[in-house]
Amino acid sequence: MARFGFGSATNSSAYSAPNPATEAFRVLRSNLAVTLPEVDDPIVVVTSALPREGKTSTCVSLAQSLAAAGSRVALVDLDLRDPSSHTMLGAHNNAGVSDVLLERKSVEDCLQYVEFGVTASARPTGMCFLSAGHSADTPTELLSTPRIRRLLERLAGVTDIVLIDAPPVLAVADTLVIGRLASGAILVVEARRTPVPAVKKAKDMLTRNQTRLLGVVLNKFKPTAAGQTYSSAAGMSGSWD
Ligand SMILES: Nc1ncnc2c1ncn2[C@@H]1O[C@H](COP(=O)(O)OP(=O)(O)OP(=O)(O)O)[C@@H](O)[C@H]1O
Ligand SMILES: [Mg+2]
Repeated sequence: MARFGFGSATNSSAYSAPNPATEAFRVLRSNLAVTLPEVDDPIVVVTSALPREGKTSTCVSLAQSLAAAGSRVALVDLDLRDPSSHTMLGAHNNAGVSDVLLERKSVEDCLQYVEFGVTASARPTGMCFLSAGHSADTPTELLSTPRIRRLLERLAGVTDIVLIDAPPVLAVADTLVIGRLASGAILVVEARRTPVPAVKKAKDMLTRNQTRLLGVVLNKFKPTAAGQTYSSAAGMSGSWD
């Protein structure tokens, strides 16, 4: 049922200087709309080659940017080993994905409505959040059950887009398992830190896994250091090909 609502965010004046980070996520949002036009219920994984490159920050900011533009967004934390989306969102992790998958809780019990509003057309917009939940003993196995597919498809059916905060590709097998359930992946790369071979390896692993690579976000990019005048301080996005 879903379509992205990719209108412009309304919280900035045409004449005010754009916040570079906000602007970067607008660009990413637009690129996503161009990359996924044919997908009805998009499920997008945000990952990176290595830990600490900025997956969670990117996922949360992209979700907020989409919600600000009028989309209904579900953000799901599938970093079951080291979840942190809830902290960044000011939400809790008392119960979440692992509890749903282990049938200890219902989805309704676990969903947190981080930002929800109603547009002029009375269409509910905003962002709901499913945290990772209680730490699971065997995350890869838990993510391999058919229940996770049903959970994601259910969320995708009632929102415009599901964004998944995932672990790093080169660290654990979880992301490859998650990637098979998704419409595609965004690869976050930390500028000046992540070695190119690690990025290439992560890209190859995703491609071999038949996970469509939607684009790359260059995070922690400093345009002044790169000698650019107009660009994003937070990142740039683009297609891999
Ligand atoms: N664009 C940015 N500019 C400055 N600092 C950033 C930026 N993006 C992320 N950070 C910082 O880098 C650190 C790692 O970010 P984040 O938690 O988003 O990464 P991650 O890839 O999700 O990490 P993990 O692998 O542990 O899940 C955090 O301290 C965060 O505040
Ligand atoms: Mg993270």
